[in-house]
Amino acid sequence: MAYEELKQRQSVMWGSGPYQRVTETIADIHEIIVDRLKPREGQCWLDLACGTGAVAERAARAGAKVTGLDLSPALLEQAKARADAEKLEIEYRVGDCERLDGIDEGAFDVVSSTCGIMFAPDHAATARQLGRVLKPGGRLGLANWTPEGGLGAMFRMMAPFQPAPPPSNPFDWGKEDRVRELLGEMFDLRFEKHISIFRPSSGQEYWEIFSTDYGPTKTLADSLGPRREELHRTWVDFFEKNYKSGDGIAHDREWLLVLATRK
Ligand SMILES: C[S@@+](CC[C@H](N)C(=O)[O-])C[C@H]1O[C@@H](n2cnc3c(N)ncnc32)[C@H](O)[C@@H]1O
Repeated sequence: MAYEELKQRQSVMWGSGPYQRVTETIADIHEIIVDRLKPREGQCWLDLACGTGAVAERAARAGAKVTGLDLSPALLEQAKARADAEKLEIEYRVGDCERLDGIDEGAFDVVSSTCGIMFAPDHAATARQLGRVLKPGGRLGLANWTPEGGLGAMFRMMAPFQPAPPPSNPFDWGKEDRVRELLGEMFDLRFEKHISIFRPSSGQEYWEIFSTDYGPTKTLADSLGPRREELHRTWVDFFEKNYKSGDGIAHDREWLLVLATRK
């Protein structure tokens, strides 16, 4: 499927679940990236693939002038409502991180993306935009799931149910070598590995959250007709067999923190 057609579908897919409960399972990642990037008063900060605004809100509370951009209008509606409720001034706009139309070269001091830009299919196009919109000396922070971690394993468990393999692998953004290829000419790079652990009470509770609130899983489950129950059973068994810990589940999800400075 051509990239543009795929992204049309993705903008609907990501917004098909309310998502907020899912983003709260990676609050530790949001805290770490904001800690490393250290928002300051008046700094121009772009959070790409911002979802419902977890990082944008944290940066805005610290005084940064924040723009949050996402492909999904439905998720941005939630983000705007959250910002209004807290009286945070955040500019939210619908957009594609592979193009960043209307954003000038060197417009931002900081660009962040947590488990976000990795899902845009044209990795080289996204990398070019990261280099374009950051000013020299500007800082970039990306949190990307690694292929060998628990999120990679979860996506492989779901793969046999997908209608077609994706045109590119989002988990390539979780490999240091690939990130060096994509960003190394434009950025000085350093890396940290972390593990975020999600602890639902059971495989069944994990399924209930992700089959209702997480757009990609909800869309897949809703498309399967009679095979929906097979995915449900596969999901529950996968977590009960591989991630059982005490009375519940401990899903350890390794991620790569990319910290970069624009040359
Ligand atoms: C797993 S969510 C992460 C959201 C948020 N960064 C967080 O930490 O919760 C992935 C997000 O990437 C967005 N996304 C996917 N492809 C995109 C693209 N090409 N341009 C902008 N956003 C995109 C989705 O709409 C979704 O909000």
